[in-house]
Amino acid sequence: MELVRLAEVKSQKFPRIATGFLEFDRVLGGGIVPGSIVLIAGDPGIGKSTLLLQTAMVIARGPVSRFLPASARSGLKSKVKQIDHADLRAVGNPSTTATTRKMSIVNGQMSNVVLYVTGEESAQQVKIRADRISKVTDNLYILPQTDVDAILAASEKLRPVLLICDSIQTLTTEKLSTSAGSIGQVRECGQILQRYAKSSGTPIFIVGHVTKEGVVAGPKVLEHLVDAVLNLEGDGTHAFRLLRAVKNRFGSTFEVGVFEMADSGMKEVANPSEIFLSQRISKRAGSVVTSTLAGGRPLLVEVQALCTATIFPVPTRRVTGLDFNRMQVVMAALSRSANLKLANLDIYLNVAGGLKISEPAADLPAALSIVSATVDKPVREGICAFGEVGLLGELRQVANSENRVKEAKRLGFGDFVTPVKFKTLEEAISYAVHGG
Ligand code: TYD
Ligand code: MG
Repeated sequence: MELVRLAEVKSQKFPRIATGFLEFDRVLGGGIVPGSIVLIAGDPGIGKSTLLLQTAMVIARGPVSRFLPASARSGLKSKVKQIDHADLRAVGNPSTTATTRKMSIVNGQMSNVVLYVTGEESAQQVKIRADRISKVTDNLYILPQTDVDAILAASEKLRPVLLICDSIQTLTTEKLSTSAGSIGQVRECGQILQRYAKSSGTPIFIVGHVTKEGVVAGPKVLEHLVDAVLNLEGDGTHAFRLLRAVKNRFGSTFEVGVFEMADSGMKEVANPSEIFLSQRISKRAGSVVTSTLAGGRPLLVEVQALCTATIFPVPTRRVTGLDFNRMQVVMAALSRSANLKLANLDIYLNVAGGLKISEPAADLPAALSIVSATVDKPVREGICAFGEVGLLGELRQVANSENRVKEAKRLGFGDFVTPVKFKTLEEAISYAVHGG
């Protein structure tokens, strides 16, 4: 048995590989850690393949990590020989492999060969997507394959700086007779890939589809196996995508990256608040700006309410982007403590831009937007509201107030309607809507 004093274990600083997206790097905790295995989970069609293909293309394009200082970068470029490969093709020619292997270390930094394994699409389909994104360079290899052992054999030959498996649900190992996507296959293939990542030092991205039916054989099975789980979220009707770390051994789980799905792939959004508020019409009844936390990062968004007289025996309550149950409580608290008659109104609540907010801090802005819409009076100009509403109409403080305030100030909001200033819903309403 080998006993090691923890104090004697050398702290290791992992050299990280840049993805080409600052937002992606940040969510990963500062780039890709060699030998790590990362699960990218999300609904089908949300953009997982697009994001990873873009990353693959960026890494394949430049041999030198963006993490190196500029001076080192210019010096290194000339030392890397460019090898003439055909664009994007299947692996298997051993004669080129040797040169590739030599290339994998450039002055101590691994270079730029990427292997993209696709179990869902043909090489042709991936090429069509790649053409939309940008020019394909020589060092990106594509392997349409679902057998894990064959994938590892290919990776051993090629020694890529990054291996991408799209998706785990299509992979199988001969060890099991069950079909692809079954819990057994997903877990076993995940384990094989994990062992390979650790033993070879090759970082692996695995794509996992989240299925509507309770995530049976999907990402959940893999969560404990991988080093990081990043969820790509968004709704199909909006272009915004949030990349959220829900587990990360090498970084914070409070990080969120914001992207926009454009015609030529994913674009990172450096100033999400500005974009979420860009289409807001100020001085419009029913609109309230709030500062919400997406992961640990404050984002300014607009909560909107529309309240109209109902023609139905039971009035409509429709909530998009907010938690429906919370909003029911907010409406009940409004009826009771703010003495607002909502029983004959259809109420529609929405978060502009397609963002989903599940935190209680959205209670107060939602309440204010309902009041503003009901009395058809815009809220006071320049306010930003956040806070939890209790059952008795009391306002409760929420986490990270300072950060929320900071982000709002940055965008010109200086008047805060929060539990720090107001103790009850009535007080907040009378200030924000009735100008008291
Ligand atoms: P995709 O990456 O295939 O999703 P996933 O791998 O998560 O299933 O993304 C598919 C969607 O993205 C599809 O509806 C088309 C759209 N898209 C764009 O809008 N712009 C682009 O440049 C690309 C490549 C895809
Ligand atoms: Mg895909």
